[in-house]
Amino acid sequence: MDVGSIRDSLEELVGASPVMLAVYDRIEKAAATDVTVLITGESGTGKELAARAIHRLSRRREGPFISVNAGAIPRELVASELFGHEPGAFTGAAYRRPGKFELADGGTLFLDEIAATDHNTQIALLRSLEDRWITRLGGQHPVHVDARFIAATNESLSRAIRAGRFRKDLFFRLDIFQIRMPPLRDRGGDLMLLADRFLREIASDLGRKIDGFTDEARTCLLGYSWPGNVRELKNCVYRAVVASEGRAIRREDLPRRLRTIVHATREIRLKLGRRLGDIERAYVLRTLEECRGNKMEAARLLGISRKALYDKLARWEKEDGDGDVYSLGKEETVPIRPSPREEE
Ligand SMILES: Nc1ncnc2c1ncn2[C@@H]1O[C@H](COP(=O)(O)OP(=O)(O)O)[C@@H](O)[C@H]1O
Ligand SMILES: [Mg+2]
Repeated sequence: MDVGSIRDSLEELVGASPVMLAVYDRIEKAAATDVTVLITGESGTGKELAARAIHRLSRRREGPFISVNAGAIPRELVASELFGHEPGAFTGAAYRRPGKFELADGGTLFLDEIAATDHNTQIALLRSLEDRWITRLGGQHPVHVDARFIAATNESLSRAIRAGRFRKDLFFRLDIFQIRMPPLRDRGGDLMLLADRFLREIASDLGRKIDGFTDEARTCLLGYSWPGNVRELKNCVYRAVVASEGRAIRREDLPRRLRTIVHATREIRLKLGRRLGDIERAYVLRTLEECRGNKMEAARLLGISRKALYDKLARWEKEDGDGDVYSLGKEETVPIRPSPREEE
C-alpha cells in the first residue's frame, strides 16, 4: 500500500497532536493484519471513525463495513441482530434473516458499545470469534463467515467484569490489539484545528460566509473541558453557525455552558501542544476579561506596563486584521461585558 492511500484513508480523521499521531500509527498497524481490534475511549472520541479507517486501509476495503451499536438496540435483540435467525426462532420471527455477522462476510464487523451485550450474546460472540462459525438463532447448522471483528467500548471493560456484566474470557479474546482514542481535552492544538475544519464544512454546507471565531469565542472553546469530545464540538459549531449573524462566530453564539465555565473560574486550561504565543494571548485576554476590560488593572495583574499591554493588543489586532476587537482607543473603562442575552 502506498503512502498516498494511507493519507487518503486517514484524511477524515483531523488532528496532528502527538497522541493522535500515535493513534494513526496503531490504525495502520491494525490495518496490515486481520487481528481483532478493541477500540476504547470516551463517547465522541471518534471510535467508529477509527474503525472505518482500519477497514479502508485493510485488504478488506472492497468488502462491506457493517456497524452495530449494541447500546442502541434492546438488549434481548442484540443476538438476533448479530447472528440472524431462522423462521420461528422466536415470536415474530416469520422469515429467515441473516445477521450482521453474515452481512459482513468478506469485510469488517464493527460492534460499538460491546459492554451493553447480555451474557448469552457474549458467549455466542466468544464462540464465533474463536472459529468464525456462527449459528443463527433457532438454526441447526453453523455457517462460516469471513469477517474481521472490531469492537468498541466507552465503558471500562474491567469495571464491567468486576460488576459481573462482562465475561472475562470474552475480554481476553478481544484484548489482543487495543487502540485508545484520547479525549479531546488531551489533544492540545487539535481542538482549534477541528473547530476550524468543522466551521468551514458546516458553513459551506449551510451556504454561510463565516471566516472564523472571535478571540472571545476561541477562549471559550479552549477553556471548556469537552466531556462529549469531538461529537460535542461538532454540534456546538453547528449550532453556532446557525445562531451567528456576522462573518465570525462570537462568544454569544456558543452554548451557555461554554460561556459560563470560562466566567465561573479564574483559571485557563493549558494544554500541551499549543503554541506559546497562543497561550500568551488567551491568558492576556482572559485576564482582561476578568478585569472587565480595565487595561490598567489587567496590566497590573499581568505584571507588565500598560504600554506593554497596549502594544500586545495592537499587535494581535493587526494580525487579525479586523480591528477594534480589544476596544483599543475607547474609554479605558469600557468593560467587555457578557452579552445581555446571557444575563437574563
Ligand atoms: N479526529 C476526528 N476528525 C474529524 N471528525 C471526527 C474526529 N473524531 C470524531 N469525529 C466526528 O465526531 C463524531 C463522533 O465520532 P464517532 O466516531 O461516532 O465517535 P464515538 O464512536 O467514539 O462515539 C462523528 O461525527 C465523527 O465524524
Ligand atoms: Mg460510537
